[in-house]
Amino acid sequence: MQPKAFLLDLDGVITDTAQYHYLAWSELCQTYGFRFSEADNERLKGVSRMRSLEIILELNGKQNTYNDAEKQQLTVEKNDRYVQMIRQMTPADILPGVSAFLKDCRQAGIRLAVASASRNAPEILRLLGIAHLFDYVADAAKIPNSKPAPDVFLVCSQALDLPPACCVGIEDALAGVQAIHAAGMPAVGIRVAPHPVHKPDIALTSTAELSLPDLLKQLQSLS
Ligand code: BG6
Ligand code: MG
Repeated sequence: MQPKAFLLDLDGVITDTAQYHYLAWSELCQTYGFRFSEADNERLKGVSRMRSLEIILELNGKQNTYNDAEKQQLTVEKNDRYVQMIRQMTPADILPGVSAFLKDCRQAGIRLAVASASRNAPEILRLLGIAHLFDYVADAAKIPNSKPAPDVFLVCSQALDLPPACCVGIEDALAGVQAIHAAGMPAVGIRVAPHPVHKPDIALTSTAELSLPDLLKQLQSLS
């Protein structure tokens, strides 16, 4: 295939905010006496803020302990901590290889969108100084079903007025790869946790391996 657009995840693909999400959840868990390990954190990648809290509560057998208003308050507390942490981000926090890849895409006339579950995505792109490189940034608050559902990738392809088959998703989370495939698009995976069924079509070990000419070559050879 010849891609007309790349739809990029944000956390773990454009910048390494996963560490801040982990720290902010860890602090919240410490405050409330919840168990939460780095391995547990893997399950939260690509998952919405509320669903992340629900997973943590399930891990602690507390899924029926809090009502909706209390859960909402817990997600606000987590986000307040997270927002404090990301405030210091600068263009130096863009992951290796990403800036060059985005610029190469623009030069080649390939369109770009951000397909993230994060409601903080616009602010992070502004802090990184790359908001202007994207033709569209999905509004996570308006996406009906979060990854692994295909919604955010389909919304991006619709916004760009392109059929899904002309778009390629780039993800670091298993839920994200599932979402891309459910949307009918090829998936480029970056350090995606191995899974017997859900494998990216092109697997990279780092964003430093993102090269437009290489990806175009590999995408062309996909059946
Ligand atoms: C995803 C992250 O990109 O965004 C998840 O991988 C996070 O870890 C989700 O929970 C929602 O982010 P936010 O910024 O809206 O809390
Ligand atoms: Mg991610």
